[in-house]
Formats: sequence, structure tokens, C-alpha cells
Amino acid sequence: MNKVGVIGWPIEHSLSPVMHNAAFQALGMTDWLYDRIAVPPDIVRLSLRELRDHGYIGVNVTVPHKQAVMPFVRPDDVARAIGAVNTIDFRFGVGTNTDADGFMRDLQAHGMDVAGRRVVVLGAGGAARAAVYALAKAGAQIALVNRTFERAERLIASLGVDAAAVTAETAARAAFDLLVNCTSVGMAPHVEASPWPEDVALPEGVTVYDMVYRPARTRLMAQVEARGGRAIGGLGMLVRQGAAAFALWTGVEPPTDVMMRAVEGALAR
Ligand code: ATR
Repeated sequence: MNKVGVIGWPIEHSLSPVMHNAAFQALGMTDWLYDRIAVPPDIVRLSLRELRDHGYIGVNVTVPHKQAVMPFVRPDDVARAIGAVNTIDFRFGVGTNTDADGFMRDLQAHGMDVAGRRVVVLGAGGAARAAVYALAKAGAQIALVNRTFERAERLIASLGVDAAAVTAETAARAAFDLLVNCTSVGMAPHVEASPWPEDVALPEGVTVYDMVYRPARTRLMAQVEARGGRAIGGLGMLVRQGAAAFALWTGVEPPTDVMMRAVEGALAR
């Protein structure tokens, strides 16, 4: 058996096993298996060694371990820039980050070209770092809005990108094409919350990309649509970051439509 999997804590709700195993099945790769592996924070290093010694080819890394695994792998350029690893290949001891790639590919799949466009990013955590890294590389003009303003400034400085930390009011005045939510605000069970302040009018006709995918339609997505805009949920990014890891381990491009149907089915249950 070729074993891969995902480590996290807690891990019960991860959708990764269902989507990867659906792809293995669709491709007839019956000698591959994707596991869900609960790893408490104090035994990350030990667990990585155990998994490698037990023949795992690689693992995905999710909350709260994405930064913690960095010292125990050789991070590639992308992982080093983002400061987090979401995919490990034990065969080479390398850690990479497919979140930025998954995000950009999903934007492209939705026909969004961000080169030269004004983009407002909400948040300054790990998800925002991946988004800002990817958007800057693609030539977007980025404004970063975060509850804790200094954290936005720190993110920009540490990534060394040309972006501005601003308030939502300032961002709204300057107008923009795309709004990307990289905070967890609006995620179930707090579905009535929005990361965009209710008292600041959203520009009309913007596109929102909400990395939240539980629920499928967030309060923020509804706010944007009420202003004549377009809303894209974060499920496609989840699938595409997984697809990139799948291709890395197996050398095979997985069917993203199969993976998407698998996660949609799991969420509906
Ligand atoms: P991740 O790595 O998933 O991005 P994180 O590092 O905990 O997670 O970052 C969470 C982001 O959501 C942060 O930008 C956080 O804002 P702060 O930097 O001010 O903490 C934002 N966030 C979380 N809860 C929020 C809330 N209730 N209102 C506004 N922003 C919130």
C-alpha cells in the first residue's frame, strides 16, 4: 500500500481523506490510501518520524501544525516565503505549501485574472499570508485589512511585498475589483458574522472570494451579492490545494471534479 494522509489536531472534520480517496478510486489507484491522523501538538516531531518510518509517502499538514513542522522538513521556496508547510514529501524530506497555488488556480478556474487589479485581502494570519504571496506574484495591487492593524503591517513587511495596510473605510473609498476573505469570520457555527463591517458600504459590482466553505454561502457573500457583485466560496481552493499535493506524491493529475463532488457530498451529510 502507498500511504499518505493528513495530520492535525483535531482532525475528525477534515475533508481531505474523502476527496483524495475519491480521486484514487476514480483513477483505479487501488494501492493508494489516504488516512486521517490525529497528532497532538507536543508530539509533532515524533509523529513525523513514525509516519516516515512506517512507509508513508507524504502527509498534508493542517491546523495547528503548519508552522510547527517547519524545523523538521526542508521547506522549499514557497513554504519558506509563506512561513508554513501544508504538504510534506517524506521521500525527499521536503515541505511545500500548496495553498497559494490552490487559491490562484481556483481564481483562474473562475475566470479571474488579477494582474494589475486592485485586490483587498481581509486577515493577516496564515491563510492571508498565502493569499498575499500568491496575489503579489500574480501582479495584483494589494490592500490588506485586518482587525489588528499592526499584524497586517507585519505581514507585508515580512513577505517583502508591495502592499498597503489600510482600514475597511479607506479600502472602500479607493474602490477595488476583488475582495478576498482570509479570516475565519462567518464560518459555522457563527454564520451571521461577516468580516466586512456592516456600517461601511461595499463598492458595487465587486467579486468576493471567501476562503470559508462551511457554510457554502456566507454572510459576506450575501452582502456582496446584494451590491450587485459576484461571490465565490472557498471549496474550490480546498480541492485545488489537495489536487496539487496529490500530483506531487503520485505524479498523476487528479480529477478535480471528482474531488469536488466528494467534498460536497461529505458536507451535505
Ligand atoms: P489562519 O492561519 O487560518 O489564517 P489565524 O492566524 O488565527 O488563522 O488568523 C485568523 C485571522 O482572522 C486574523 O486575521 C484575525 O484577526 P486578528 O489578526 O486581529 O486576530 C482574523 N479574525 C479572527 N476572528 C476575527 C473576528 N471576530 N473579527 C475580525 N477578525 C477576526
